[in-house]
Order: sequence, then structure tokens, then C-alpha cells
Amino acid sequence: MLCRSADLIAEAHASGSGIAAFNVITLEHVQAVADAARRTGQPAIVQISQNAVRHHGGDVMPLAAAAGAAARTGGTRLALHLDHVEDFALLHRTAECGASSVMFDASRLPDAENIAATREAARWAHGQGLFVEAELGEIGGKGSAHTPGVRTDPADAARFVAETGVDALAVAVGSSHAMVSRTAELDLQLIERIREKVPVPLVLHGSSGVPHTTLRAAVKHGMTKINIGTLLNVSFTRAVRATLAQEPEVVDPRRYLGPARDAMTDAVADCLLALTTSDSP
Ligand code: G3H
Ligand code: ZN
Repeated sequence: MLCRSADLIAEAHASGSGIAAFNVITLEHVQAVADAARRTGQPAIVQISQNAVRHHGGDVMPLAAAAGAAARTGGTRLALHLDHVEDFALLHRTAECGASSVMFDASRLPDAENIAATREAARWAHGQGLFVEAELGEIGGKGSAHTPGVRTDPADAARFVAETGVDALAVAVGSSHAMVSRTAELDLQLIERIREKVPVPLVLHGSSGVPHTTLRAAVKHGMTKINIGTLLNVSFTRAVRATLAQEPEVVDPRRYLGPARDAMTDAVADCLLALTTSDSP
């Protein structure tokens, strides 16, 4: 069933659990998320980044249509989200492509411009009934929010949310994008301090680099939406490499895309189950 991101996120926020959001690039990514959600019985968010849209010639519709179709025919709850959207032109296609939420990312801009652009994006998106996530940018010359080593200041975060009116906030607490090993260490006390000051759900980007036990701890300390992308690509590419190494004569893409999709399905299912497992005290 295609449902609204706002409902999945609100449900997780209210119950203190996490909702996983997976970045998709190919049709196989979409199928992997849908199959893993069905296998585990867990809801999930399928997200398409502006970079992925660029890969598809700038057109969000084909991949979004695939995600919408997979959600509608699958036996579980999936929502569609547009991720790291920097252009207003793509923002304006959010509802039309079937997504119910969007991360508007003006974090590359100086703080005041980020706030102004995000406020404008949120105002427009709310008029369309969309749920909006955003991110603080460079504050005090410390680099963008997901530069390794950068941390979100709780008071800055609260001010950003109040001034922009966004519905969820991406925060920098130790993860960074595109990690291929699970070695990130999160500042759990900082997550708690941000949660105390910020009324909206918090979003962890770069979650591929975070061990499952740490992800669970992050949720326990106040994180709600868990964004995972690179992990799928690591599984995909590893499986493709293995198939081609074993069978170098293969030319039919189904021979390597099939195992790649299976590997991504297992990886996504692992994440979905990891978020529902509880660690012994
Ligand atoms: O917005 C997407 C996420 O932050 C994914 O990050 O590819 O490092 O898991 P990741
Ligand atoms: Zn991200």
C-alpha cells in the first residue's frame, strides 16, 4: 500500500521507534526494498535523491512510478520521499510523482540563505499537503552538517526549525554520507540534547556507516528517520562483481542483476529487522 511518509514518521516518533528510509537508484533497488518490507512485515520509506533523478536524465517520473507501483501491489506499507532536493523545479514535482514528503536541502548555502530558502520551500510544500525535512548548513564555518566531525548544536537546531517551519530535521551527530564500512560512532548524548530542544522528528543521514546496535541506540535516544543508501549499493556491486568474476562470459544483465537484487533485499531486510530488535539491557 502506498501510504504517506508523514503517517509512518509520526507513528515512529510517537512510539519511540525508527522508520527506515532507503535510497533507490534502479528498478532493482525499488524491488529490493518492496520485497524486504514484505518479507519482514515492516513499513519503509523509498526515497529518490536529486542525484538519482539526475542519473535518470533529470526525469523523476519513471523511478517514482516504479516505486508507486511496487508500493500499491506489495503487501506492506511503503511511502515515497524525494531526498536531498536542491532545485525548486524538482521540489515542485514532489506531489505529481507520487511522493508525500521531500527533503529540501539548502545546507550548502550560508545559514541565513538556507533559512530563507527552506522557509520558502516549506511554505510551498505545506500548501500541497507535503511533509518537509531539511538540514542545517554551515554554521560558524564548521563545514556542512554531514562533514565528518561536524555536530549540530541543539539551540541552532531549535531555532532553524522554528524559523523555517519544517516537519523533520536532519542532524549531524557523527555519521557521514557514503561510508562503506560500519565504523561510525554516534554522539548519543547529543541526540538526546537535540531531541529535548527540537519538537519535530530527527533524521539520521549516512546510516550505512553505522553499526546496527548503534542505530538502535540512536533511535532509543531520539532519532526517528534512518536514511540508508550506500549499503544497498555495496551489496549490489559486490554481487555483480562476484557473478562476473565467476562467469566472465555473461552478457545478459538478468544474470547479474538478479543476484544483485537478492543481495540488496537481504541487506534491506537485515536493516528493517535490526530496527525492530531490542538489545538486552
Ligand atoms: O540521504 C541519504 C542518506 O543520508 C544515505 O546515506 O548512503 O551514507 O547511507 P548513506
Ligand atoms: Zn543524506
